[in-house]
Amino acid sequence: MSNAKPSLKIAIAGLGVVGSEVARQLINRSDELALAAGKMIQVVAVSARDRSVNRGVNLDGIDWYDETHKMAERDDIDIIVEMIGGSEGVAVDLARAALRSGKHVITANKAMIAHHGAELAQLAEANDAHLLFESAVAGGIPAVKTLREGLAGNKITRVAGILNGTCNYILSTMETTGRGFEEVLADAQRFGYAEAEPSFDIDGIDAAHKLTILAAIAFGQKPDFSAVSIQGIRDVSSVDFTYANQLGFRIKLVGVAEPGLMPRMETCLLPLDSQLAKVNGVLNAVEFHGEPVGSVLAVGPGAGGCATSSAVLSDLIDIAAGRGGLPFGRSINTLADATAVENCAGPDKPFYVRLMVVDQPGVLATLTGILQKHSISIEGLLQQGRAPGNAVALVMTTHETSVVKLGIALDEMEKLPIVKAKPVAMPIMLADKEM
Ligand SMILES: NC(=O)c1ccc[n+]([C@@H]2O[C@H](COP(=O)([O-])OP(=O)(O)OC[C@H]3O[C@@H](n4cnc5c(N)ncnc54)[C@H](OP(=O)(O)O)[C@@H]3O)[C@@H](O)[C@H]2O)c1
Repeated sequence: MSNAKPSLKIAIAGLGVVGSEVARQLINRSDELALAAGKMIQVVAVSARDRSVNRGVNLDGIDWYDETHKMAERDDIDIIVEMIGGSEGVAVDLARAALRSGKHVITANKAMIAHHGAELAQLAEANDAHLLFESAVAGGIPAVKTLREGLAGNKITRVAGILNGTCNYILSTMETTGRGFEEVLADAQRFGYAEAEPSFDIDGIDAAHKLTILAAIAFGQKPDFSAVSIQGIRDVSSVDFTYANQLGFRIKLVGVAEPGLMPRMETCLLPLDSQLAKVNGVLNAVEFHGEPVGSVLAVGPGAGGCATSSAVLSDLIDIAAGRGGLPFGRSINTLADATAVENCAGPDKPFYVRLMVVDQPGVLATLTGILQKHSISIEGLLQQGRAPGNAVALVMTTHETSVVKLGIALDEMEKLPIVKAKPVAMPIMLADKEM
């Protein structure tokens, strides 16, 4: 393609899983991408820690920086593509410096946007720069764009999503194989689906970063990670899948954001016939509910170099084509504070509760007595097998109740000598059935 129009010069900071794939795509498919963007997108600088690593792409003629921040000082660079990661440190320092000097920033760093998105968006607006982060949420699914552009004219009433492929893989595999959490996690680590230090994923933090960003765009509020309630998947046992299935449910880690309520990541039971329940393995999915549109579901690969670089390329093309827009879809000065949520606990909902109790007469009466005292009514009960004098699983589902009341009742139960382990409670999410 002739290069009549000026090219867009970019620097890539971080050449790991995502950064190196972005570089590969931009370098190996430059003509094709120039057609989509309306101009050449030229990688002129890169940075990573170790210059000796083979990045699987020819970086000849591209300037290498050991000190990442020096790329922000170069006047000829238009866009910094930040692919390092981390909510603090070099990534956020680079983003600040780049935006202050009027450079556009594209990042896959959900932790940074969840923690510093408001400040960075302010800097972007003040310096006439774009800050884009499609790749920070749900990898290859255009979730940010869907909210910011495709559904911009809607009143969003709910966003719910499976936002972490590692957790979805672990839960799906536990269900299909009947194996325990630790064993499946070890497999996920061996296959490269989970980090050696997996807590960010399995404790729901990574998914909560993404939910923070979606909630901000959906409801016109500043991203505020501290205003998200987070529960991970560590407490789920393989017996829960058996019981959940018998009751007509599947267990998933789902992030839910609704107007006026604290966004929440929760391990919950979804009806087997609901859309999100059918999303298995490493896939991600996001359900958008709005007026007048109704419900929209997007499913796709949520991680990996290819899926994530697809989103980075889309952000690059948007800037090249003059469609950069505002980071959260509207001016930062018009965004509300996220912490101004009215009801942190959310509305009453039904729960699945599993107790490990001694199999002996009178246990059920004791437990139901506690529930009755706290005005919690039981919808159903399951107990399989007998083991007189030993611990057995007793599962109950409740009618709609407050999470606070249930927590008090379960604390009381845990103290009883007949209850042999910490009770496990998961909300049953029926709203997803409306899809
Ligand atoms: N991996 C995914 O599937 C995925 C999906 C969505 C979003 N993301 C996000 O994308 C970002 C990058 O993730 P990744 O998986 O590509 O990470 P990664 O494979 O660990 O790569 C990180 C890169 O940053 C470089 N780096 C680290 N510290 C640096 C420093 N101080 N100065 C310069 N470079 C430095 C590393 O250099 P060396 O290679 O020399 O060590 C490496 O190239 C993160 O924000 C992540 O959350 C990742």
